[in-house]
Amino acid sequence: MTPHIEAAPGDYAEDILLPGDPARAEWIAETFLENVKIVNRVRGATGLTGMYKGRRVSVQATGMGMPSAAIYINELLMEYGIKRMIRVGTCGGLNADYKVRDIVLAQAASTNSAQNAALFGQYQFASIADFGLLRKAADEAEKAGLRTVVGGIVTDDNFYDPLGGAPYEVLKKHGTVAVEMETAALYTIAARYGAKALTVATISDCLITHEQLSSDARQESLVEMVTLALDTLG
Ligand code: HPA
Repeated sequence: MTPHIEAAPGDYAEDILLPGDPARAEWIAETFLENVKIVNRVRGATGLTGMYKGRRVSVQATGMGMPSAAIYINELLMEYGIKRMIRVGTCGGLNADYKVRDIVLAQAASTNSAQNAALFGQYQFASIADFGLLRKAADEAEKAGLRTVVGGIVTDDNFYDPLGGAPYEVLKKHGTVAVEMETAALYTIAARYGAKALTVATISDCLITHEQLSSDARQESLVEMVTLALDTLG
């Protein structure tokens, strides 16, 4: 047990999907996994373990933002021996060339979070995806005919940006394709523990064109994204 997880040792698989939303964690388990067991309910952050195509896989909700995600990622890595983690989520597009429903495979995550700044002092840590997972995800996406983008994203501490998008300009100039709120923590903490990590995130809204996924398309795109993440772990 950890302060935020009540699971017993061995309750989680070595491979785990990390959605932000507990309802989505439950939906993933119900939709894709067999022989599902609930392993965590502390604070409503549902964790579940089941089987996908004969392999043991877990799903754990992380909440939103780096502070919340970092708690779950640290505790999973410190106490439960997780080896491979794939965050499944949504992101805001920062480049009009990419459309809603495109899937971003986050190669690296820049961040404005104080979490990393405080840790690395004069250095800015380059938080990067595991190359093997990234390559496998790109291959699986191609096989499935999915539109994907491999590139740098920004993990922002603000969902509501009071500066009208101005902070994104310099990031866009440096090729940043999307914004979300958890990946820099995932990649940094995974690196610390020698675990493998990747973020797979559907573009749910474009901050340039203001296009948004309809609710039907959102559901279909979630199925595509979660299937891709699970097959990447296969
Ligand atoms: N900002 C941050 N995270 C997001 C966004 C966004 O616009 N869209 C989806 N996740």
